[in-house]
Amino acid sequence: MSCGVGGSSCETPRRRGALVMLAVMTAIFIALSIFSFMKSRGQATPYTITYGKYTANEGKRVFQAYNCMGCHTMVGNGAYLGPDLTGEYKRVGPAWLAAFLPSAGGWPTTGAVRAQLLDPDQRADTGTDSIDAYLKKFPVAAVQIERRGGKTTMMPNLPLSKDEIGQLIAYLKYTSAMNTEGWPPKVEVQGLDHRLQLAHGSAALAAAAPAAAAPEPTKVDPAAYGAQLVKDNGCLACHATDDKRLVGPGWGGLYNSKVSLADGSTVSADDAYLRESILHPNAKIVAGYPASVMPAYGTLLKEDDVNAIVAYLHTLEKQ
Ligand code: HEC
Ligand code: HEC
Repeated sequence: MSCGVGGSSCETPRRRGALVMLAVMTAIFIALSIFSFMKSRGQATPYTITYGKYTANEGKRVFQAYNCMGCHTMVGNGAYLGPDLTGEYKRVGPAWLAAFLPSAGGWPTTGAVRAQLLDPDQRADTGTDSIDAYLKKFPVAAVQIERRGGKTTMMPNLPLSKDEIGQLIAYLKYTSAMNTEGWPPKVEVQGLDHRLQLAHGSAALAAAAPAAAAPEPTKVDPAAYGAQLVKDNGCLACHATDDKRLVGPGWGGLYNSKVSLADGSTVSADDAYLRESILHPNAKIVAGYPASVMPAYGTLLKEDDVNAIVAYLHTLEKQ
């Protein structure tokens, strides 16, 4: 029997062979497809990463709405005016970010970051309310505080609400968790990582630690003590000592003035009002300012401290 021209006896085995090959190829294709999906199942997605009640997906929209990429790069896209933000959450952590994002005035100090740790969302996210443990966990935050804490920043003052800040943190948490295959390459322009290696983290931490120590109480002069306290507690990142608007209202001439509140009423800025504004900032919101941006200092400041700050506020005149 031959497969000569016109003979049909060879066609069936050939066709069968082709079909078998096709079936084998299809099986390999399906197996590899399933395999690649299984690998991507473990990947971070903006829908699964959250910070407090905020999802990274909401944060992505905030990031776009404020055009952060007009100045920053994110996974290689964007502009170069500000530093790359892809791994920012991993470097500085949520409390440093919450202190930095709304404060136009300056870079966060130890006090400003410590105040953020009072927030239950922060505690849940970082697993600690101790500033020392936090700075150990996020050593770059310690170095940022040491190098730049309290100094002015070129980052513009964005009118971010409390929710938007939480959403941005969720988004930055997501981009830190993303598998970017090593992108961005090691940051060299910042000089921070390099410095960190030199210091092996711990030396930098030790250098940053004295800032966290309680100030020498000069209780003889409450106003002077109050002036020290507002520096140590990061208030000046958000408040000017004259009547300039930063994140919060300027303090110059505040004492005994009439303050318009968001609910349309007016209140006299007496001692009781000032105390309440420090301990429970959300009790009365100043008209034109965001609620919940100022941390509640109830557990950080002692009775004497609050009195000293109020005494200091008395001394600030409108310029
Ligand atoms: C007009 C430009 C501009 C825009 C818009 C902008 N930034 Fe920035 N940002 C900067 C600059 C410049 C710096 C560095 C500031 C400095 O070194 O003093 C910075 C610094 C930062 C840092 C600190 C980085 C570090 O060194 O650890 C973070 C975080 C940040 N920006 C987040 C954001 C987010 C989130 C947005 C959008 C909501 C945003 N920025 C929008 C210019 C901008
Ligand atoms: C992250 C920014 C931020 C920080 C830090 C901060 N504040 Fe505020 N503060 C605000 C904002 C915003 C308001 C206005 C909204 C409101 O009434 O809560 C405000 C309001 C106030 C008021 C009322 C002002 C007025 O015009 O009636 C006082 C007093 C005050 N803060 C004191 C302090 C003191 C003292 C500290 C530090 C121990 C501090 N704040 C830290 C943002 C901040």
